[in-house]
Amino acid sequence: MPPLTAVVAMALNRVIGVGDKLPWHIPDELKWFKNLTMGHLLLMGRKTFESIGKPLPGRTIVVLSKSGFKHPDVITISDLAELPKVANNQKILRLWGCIDLQTYSAMVVGYICLTYQNNDSWGRHNAPLRKHV
Ligand SMILES: NC(=O)c1ccc[n+]([C@@H]2O[C@H](COP(=O)([O-])OP(=O)(O)OC[C@H]3O[C@@H](n4cnc5c(N)ncnc54)[C@H](OP(=O)(O)O)[C@@H]3O)[C@@H](O)[C@H]2O)c1
Repeated sequence: MPPLTAVVAMALNRVIGVGDKLPWHIPDELKWFKNLTMGHLLLMGRKTFESIGKPLPGRTIVVLSKSGFKHPDVITISDLAELPKVANNQKILRLWGCIDLQTYSAMVVGYICLTYQNNDSWGRHNAPLRKHV
């Protein structure tokens, strides 16, 4: 299986989200995200998927969930160990967001495409990345 590459945007204070939303709306950042993910498998946590509410076009969306989440247009897996099975012949696998520290530790992240927002941001969710890069 190809390495899983995390795509994460974070503020200088490592904030990545507030509630179920992104703390910012930056069109260039969204274009960067689209370029990195278009045509590829995109893995995300259940809460991130629910916050966008629908699959992103042109990508194979795989949602991680242990609670039995289902959506007709996405693939749900309950454990990262199932990822190779659903990855089929996909050459590029992206992870969007941070999921949790335990999940990060359990998987192989090939490299990380980071966008730093050049300021601090108020929010609840912090990226656990410093321990991993
Ligand atoms: N800045 C960025 O780049 C970026 C990108 C994406 C999202 N975000 C932000 O991040 C926030 C959401 O993150 P979050 O941490 O709250 O939620 P999340 O990671 O999107 O979803 C958490 C859920 O994913 C499932 N999950 C996580 N790890 C799992 C595992 N190892 N096995 C099975 N299921 C697993 C569980 O679903 P079940 O409860 O169904 O079992 C868990 O409750 C939002 O604010 C969002 O806007 C930021």
